[in-house]
Amino acid sequence: MAPPDEYKQYAAHPDSHADPEQQALLPGPGPGPDIPPPPAPRQRPKSAYAYPALAFVAGALACLAAQLLFCASGCFSRSSPAPSAYPTDAHVLAPPYAGSTQVHRFPPASPSNAAPSLFPTSVGFAGITPTGAEPALVATAPSYPVHTGAPQLVAPSPTKLRNGTSAERFDLFKLWGNLSPWYSVGRGAFGVDAGPEPPETCRVTGLHFLHRHGARYPTSFASYGGPANFSGRLHEAAAGWNGTGDLEFMNEWTYKLGEEVLTPFGRQQLFDLGVSLRLKYGFLLENFTAANAIPVFRTESQDRMLASALNFAVGFFGYPFEGQYQQSITIEADGFNNTLAPYKTCPNARIAAKSDRAIPYVREWAGIYLSDALARLQPQLKGYQLTVEDVYTLQQMCAYETVAIGYSKFCELFTEEEWEGFNYAMDLYFWYDSAFGSPVAKVQGIGYVQELVARLTHTPIPTHNSSTNATLDDDPLMFPLGQSLYVDATHEVVVLNVITALNLTSFARDGPLPADHIPPNRSFRVSQLAPFATNVQFQLLSCASTPGPQIRVIINDGVVPLTGIRGCPADKDGMCPVDAFVAAQKEIIGQTDWEWGCHGTWEVPAGPAWNTTTGEPPRRGEVVG
Ligand SMILES: *[C@@H]1O[C@H](CO)[C@@H](O)[C@H](O)[C@H]1NC(C)=O
Ligand SMILES: *[C@@H]1O[C@H](CO)[C@@H](O)[C@H](O)[C@H]1NC(C)=O
Ligand SMILES: *[C@@H]1O[C@H](CO)[C@@H](O)[C@H](O)[C@H]1NC(C)=O
Ligand SMILES: *[C@@H]1O[C@H](CO)[C@@H](O)[C@H](O)[C@H]1NC(C)=O
Ligand SMILES: *[C@@H]1O[C@H](CO)[C@@H](O)[C@H](O)[C@H]1NC(C)=O
Ligand SMILES: *[C@@H]1O[C@H](CO)[C@@H](O)[C@H](O)[C@H]1NC(C)=O
Ligand SMILES: *[C@@H]1O[C@H](CO)[C@@H](O)[C@H](O)[C@H]1NC(C)=O
Ligand SMILES: *[C@@H]1O[C@H](CO)[C@@H](O)[C@H](O)[C@H]1NC(C)=O
Ligand SMILES: *[C@@H]1O[C@H](CO)[C@@H](O)[C@H](O)[C@H]1NC(C)=O
Ligand SMILES: *[C@@H]1O[C@H](CO)[C@@H](O)[C@H](O)[C@H]1NC(C)=O
Repeated sequence: MAPPDEYKQYAAHPDSHADPEQQALLPGPGPGPDIPPPPAPRQRPKSAYAYPALAFVAGALACLAAQLLFCASGCFSRSSPAPSAYPTDAHVLAPPYAGSTQVHRFPPASPSNAAPSLFPTSVGFAGITPTGAEPALVATAPSYPVHTGAPQLVAPSPTKLRNGTSAERFDLFKLWGNLSPWYSVGRGAFGVDAGPEPPETCRVTGLHFLHRHGARYPTSFASYGGPANFSGRLHEAAAGWNGTGDLEFMNEWTYKLGEEVLTPFGRQQLFDLGVSLRLKYGFLLENFTAANAIPVFRTESQDRMLASALNFAVGFFGYPFEGQYQQSITIEADGFNNTLAPYKTCPNARIAAKSDRAIPYVREWAGIYLSDALARLQPQLKGYQLTVEDVYTLQQMCAYETVAIGYSKFCELFTEEEWEGFNYAMDLYFWYDSAFGSPVAKVQGIGYVQELVARLTHTPIPTHNSSTNATLDDDPLMFPLGQSLYVDATHEVVVLNVITALNLTSFARDGPLPADHIPPNRSFRVSQLAPFATNVQFQLLSCASTPGPQIRVIINDGVVPLTGIRGCPADKDGMCPVDAFVAAQKEIIGQTDWEWGCHGTWEVPAGPAWNTTTGEPPRRGEVVG
């Protein structure tokens, strides 16, 4: 279908929210104080690599041709326009062109030894293949399995970390906001002293599972920080700078990250998530067998979203998963109604003046927590003027390199306090961009909430007036009701939108978040709510002790208090009767106005002159500012 006309107005701003996960941080309307003047055009010592560059271009063309052929038979293109800042010749650069991009393209476009007929994927003779019973770890084990995060990745040894005196307490991987690998947050982390295992007299009857994709390369755009941009600027200035001391390694360093797609570790995260869900909740498949049906899982068309879902499926169902479930791949592109990518039909979410509220907060906070680091690092990088934003980018570089290539020398450059500062910068960003501090958070989360209510009540969505898609949601095969297991994949921004829309107000208790200090014991932590492969369990329970079906919300294995939701009692295990939960969510749906939130002509002033802590815009007729 053709996107509606109103999209033309912002189609002209390719760098404005072109991607849902603008890696902290999104394009602002213009350069701020920290952004250096535009660099001079790239200079390349032509003689050094003119020939390899040509050879590469030829290879790239062949590769493109192969891709076109492949796509003609119906593949999904990368949804990001990805205007690579790094031309295809970059892979031939090596030291001494420090800061350059290094790319290795695998597989080769037409490998000389490819002989598919000699390597059939099925040859019979599989041996004995009986299966066993479904696991139910969530109910059968004496304790719930804890996920510690990132077994394949390497952190600097405590002695390498700057002033790493509190090494035991200091877990670097948990201080990266949305770039942290997901981990079990621990019993009581969100204020309910209970684990994810069903309470004494209860058993699990169903699960609605919402998860994020795994670790990825940086997104293509950033308005604050952005590793590719920084490495590009270093490269442009290659002849002029020299790292010494802690930064001496940069003289030989090359930029090795791609864009947008899953990293090998990200792939593992989703595979592991699938395995762990099967171990904990495999017994829910018995309902499908009883009903002579298979599950439907959902993801979106974007490369990393599809790859995440399929890796999850390999973990959950094993290889080959064909025939065991059906994968719905919804279109993530401008103008397509999609509850898992609501920003694609919500113009106000993409108008910089309304959505880029987060940047000034991050900029202000970075200026505070990184001032020592800037003073420390600048003398060690002779001939290159570092800004606070650059130093912030070095922290991003640590996280991105680690989840992509397993280790990063940049991680050693900062103190624990500076990592706490980085983590909080991420909280600020997402609070104001995607959660309780954003005027367009609730309205974007509401579509998924409508679907959740439909599934919980076994009743189709009555009116399609948000991001819901009638073609999908009204089709009982595409969007089945009354199932025991649902799995949906999405982005961190959408997980935060949904948390906001659901009225999980315990996470809003410290808002509006201040830019000049970290509130003590804050409850809103993006590394706990929306890290790579973050996952939300909507757990359905039947209890001997409590009448009627119960629901719990469990984020990264932490039970969430539901006491902010009208009608939900203060329960020691975090349970709420499904009826009360649904009634409150219907009330929230009734109060949420997509037309106004996404298309209304409201304005809000920048910065703290206007605050929301419910993720809503000003009401119709309300004058602010
Ligand atoms: C590290 O510790 C030393 C000695 O305690 C102190 O002088 C220095 O300022 C600290 N550096 C940073 C970056 O915190
Ligand atoms: C910190 O917050 C958690 C929940 O978010 C709460 O359970 C705990 O009591 C708080 N601790 C302090 C010292 O306030
Ligand atoms: C870095 O970003 C700035 C501001 O958006 C842009 O002007 C500049 O061209 C970028 N530099 C590189 C090397 O990508
Ligand atoms: C970089 O600085 C170091 C230490 O001052 C010096 O020994 C080295 O020659 C410098 N390298 C370049 C390329 O200027
Ligand atoms: C609903 O989703 C389907 C499949 O992704 C898509 O083809 C269709 O265009 C969507 N409808 C709207 C109104 O966006
Ligand atoms: C797509 O969303 C718009 C806005 O909520 C709605 O008017 C329209 O009916 C939806 N289309 C479908 C096919 O669901
Ligand atoms: C799944 O089956 C169990 C056991 O028969 C039952 O208690 C539960 O209600 C079923 N769940 C759904 C969603 O039908
Ligand atoms: C949402 O949360 C606010 C603040 O806790 C509360 O006053 C309101 O009743 C809640 N609304 C619903 C429908 O749960
Ligand atoms: C959808 O329409 C219903 C009925 O008119 C209304 O109560 C609700 O607020 C609307 N929902 C959204 C998300 O606009
Ligand atoms: C918004 O929140 C900030 C930080 O808590 C506060 O300083 C400011 O006064 C608030 N603004 C309004 C209009 O309430």
